Amino acid sequence: MKKVYIQTYGCQMNQHDSQRILQVLRRSNYTPTSSPENADLIFLNTCSVRDKAEQKVYSALGRWRELKERNRGIIIGVGGCVAQQEGELLLKRVPHLDLVCGTHNIHKLPEMVGQAGTLGARPMELAFYRDPAYMEDLGGRPRVHVSTAFVTIMQGCNNVCSFCIVPHVRGRELSRPSASIIGEIRELAARGVKEVMLLGQNVNSYGKTSGGELTFPELLTRINKIGALERIRFMTSHPQDLSPELIEAYATLEKLCEHLHLPVQSGSDSVLRRMRRGYTRDAYLEKIRRLRRQCPKVALSTDIIVGFPGETEAEFAETLAILRQVAYDEIYSFMYSPRPHTVAVKLYGDDVSEEVKKERLAEVQRLQNEISLRKNKHFIGAVQEILVEGPSKLKRGQITGRTRTNKIVNSMGPITLSGSLTEVKIAGASANSLLGELPAVSEIATLRAGGIA
Ligand code: SAH
Ligand code: SF4
Ligand code: F3S
Repeated sequence: MKKVYIQTYGCQMNQHDSQRILQVLRRSNYTPTSSPENADLIFLNTCSVRDKAEQKVYSALGRWRELKERNRGIIIGVGGCVAQQEGELLLKRVPHLDLVCGTHNIHKLPEMVGQAGTLGARPMELAFYRDPAYMEDLGGRPRVHVSTAFVTIMQGCNNVCSFCIVPHVRGRELSRPSASIIGEIRELAARGVKEVMLLGQNVNSYGKTSGGELTFPELLTRINKIGALERIRFMTSHPQDLSPELIEAYATLEKLCEHLHLPVQSGSDSVLRRMRRGYTRDAYLEKIRRLRRQCPKVALSTDIIVGFPGETEAEFAETLAILRQVAYDEIYSFMYSPRPHTVAVKLYGDDVSEEVKKERLAEVQRLQNEISLRKNKHFIGAVQEILVEGPSKLKRGQITGRTRTNKIVNSMGPITLSGSLTEVKIAGASANSLLGELPAVSEIATLRAGGIA
């Protein structure tokens, strides 16, 4: 048996891809190891959404040069979005790199690793695939027991957000056939998985392009009928394509969790126009109003970019205003980072200074902390269902789980609850998580026997 060390950067899609990478490498007799020093193969699954993410890859590769010098037999490979973006350049810049595997070429890894082991070969595969057989096989069945499983429902993106490199590194949108998605979820549920996270860059356009024969809300309706499954989540939806049918699904599908991640990016119409997001501030807010009418409990999260080219103080103030107006439960905020091959970098450059970007980011985060804390405090005293993920990283003896509204809850409790649903009473709140108290052990047994709503 040989050992592989995989390091993953970036989004859930990449985490899911790393599970698939491990799965194909197991077939070539590799087992995972958590230490690169013991590995026969070091593989970096990379992200290039912002420059910082890309630079991390080069510094990691720099660190591992010494390992390679000590042990010539070790294979070092790069996959994911930086591999797709840089291709040949990576091999040129990093002489001790053995292979480059693009985002669509995971199935080719065993072959590539075999070639890289022979003298002088440095294989590289960057082709994009659009055939149905490839889409059928996008499942990543995890071997270990997990409470939440990632399920790919589509790949690529057909949008043209001017700041974003994702369409360039992940290719055009393509939906996975619904029968293969539903088959995979049935199998996962039969093995005890309680929650699925459906993955795609823009799940709302599921089925619009070739391949899928259902719309996204229709797909959700089918998944909702899978008996042993308890919860459905998805990532990510584009506000422009948030349809009335999907909003309706929040009222009718009991397994669909009361949480929506709806990236707004900016609160200013002029910035949204330059970003080519395809919606205005008012259109976005109207969708949020409708959703809240259908599902008053829904928790909302979003992504914000500060310092997009040309962003004035007044435009930035509109972002702060929309944060106050929507009062999101959680946000992910980023400083604009110019990316190669994007429209923004060609048209607008990068004219907001680093200093101003940092100030704006800090201001956004300060405001959001206040809002998140205020919203989380509302939960104190309430009883919430959580899906227990495993031990908490914060404190020994603590377990961690998520509410249906995607809030992290840490509670003292037995690790044996991992993977199951349980009820907790919320005893405390911070801006990022809640503190829960489990009912007494005897009560847990009763709750589990009786099944929790
Ligand atoms: N498909 C997802 C986004 C994937 S990228 C969607 O449409 O929502 C995740 C987030 O990274 C984006 O929502 C955006 O906020 C941020 N991002 C993307 N490109 C960026 C860039 N060039 N600079 C800074 N942040 C960026
Ligand atoms: Fe990027 Fe826009 Fe596609 Fe999201 S929808 S992946 S931000 S181009
Ligand atoms: Fe990064 Fe690629 Fe995901 S650029 S955010 S790993 S799709």
